[in-house]
Amino acid sequence: MREKKERTGTVSWRSPSNIALIKYWGKHGDQFPCNPSISLTLEQSFTETTIAYRPRQDFRDSISFTFRFQNTVRPDFDERIRKYLLKVRTYFPSLDHFHLDITSDNSFPHSAGIASSASAFSALALALQDMENEINGYAPALPMSRISEICRLGSGSACRSLFPVAALWGKASQLEASSDSYAIPMGPSLHETFRSYHDSILIVSRESKKVSSSAGHSLMNNHPFAPVRYEEARKNLQLLLDALKLGDLERMGFLVEMEAMQLHALMLCSNPNFVLMQPNTLIIMDLIKSFRRDTGIPVYFTLDAGPNVHVLYPDQNRDEVQEFIRGVLLNYCDRQQWIQDQVGQGPVKIR
Ligand code: DP6
Repeated sequence: MREKKERTGTVSWRSPSNIALIKYWGKHGDQFPCNPSISLTLEQSFTETTIAYRPRQDFRDSISFTFRFQNTVRPDFDERIRKYLLKVRTYFPSLDHFHLDITSDNSFPHSAGIASSASAFSALALALQDMENEINGYAPALPMSRISEICRLGSGSACRSLFPVAALWGKASQLEASSDSYAIPMGPSLHETFRSYHDSILIVSRESKKVSSSAGHSLMNNHPFAPVRYEEARKNLQLLLDALKLGDLERMGFLVEMEAMQLHALMLCSNPNFVLMQPNTLIIMDLIKSFRRDTGIPVYFTLDAGPNVHVLYPDQNRDEVQEFIRGVLLNYCDRQQWIQDQVGQGPVKIR
């Protein structure tokens, strides 16, 4: 048998993005959230990451890796990945002895303006722990809470991508198991209507974000409304958990739209202020409200830190809502682009 430090190998993971219903906006310390958040795990929007590892020949640097995104070298991504690998070295001691060729692909077009740090860092963390298992073996394998914690160190929202259907991250007084360090699964406590729930992502703009999430979070540090916002998020979480449990779509939709608007309202009055919504974002939100009023169909919207609109609806209304999207809303999208996503089952090992 070969020495473990002479091994070469390849590990690959696919991990999904998620959409927050209660938003994480504001962090402290090493990526700890200022309020609890809850998200739905998506299915079609994912990152696939492969790590090909081999023993290192060169020990000049504390870590050794190359990174390619969609088959292209991306020096602009290298710094964040370098920092991340340095941070997680304590969990993955093999990083001291192995060179990593990391390749990553998104299922959604990179230029679609979809936030990808959740899927990217969760796929990377899962591939790293798999590599470590292959090289050194963990006995037992790392618990999900620990993997979620390792995802969080890359990007806060990434720690929520690991679980089927839904996840909650951040200490919530009503949930004993919740923690600021990692996310916990919420799928089992949700009403069955959310297991087949839809999120159609309308691409209003494919441009990358004007303000990074990290810069946005840091503007919460001196934000005059920060204490009120964190209190609101806690209150909304309690109400939303009840609605999600009961399958109360109207109550849920009302709270989710309010959360999206609060998130963007915080941006509007940050110092400096910034606006991520675009004229077509406002038109689409308005059209969704009118459609809901006219038809009685429980379709709602939410927004990420960007101009694209996530249209949320139950499977029983799929045909009517998708007809409305195709016939009306796509006229306000960049090149009529949208992603037909829905609630998914979480990450999978792919090779
Ligand atoms: C608006 O997780 O991208 O999407 O921790 O700095 O990587 P970092 O930020 P990130 O922030 C996500 C913000 C949000 C809301 C949410 O997903 O909860």
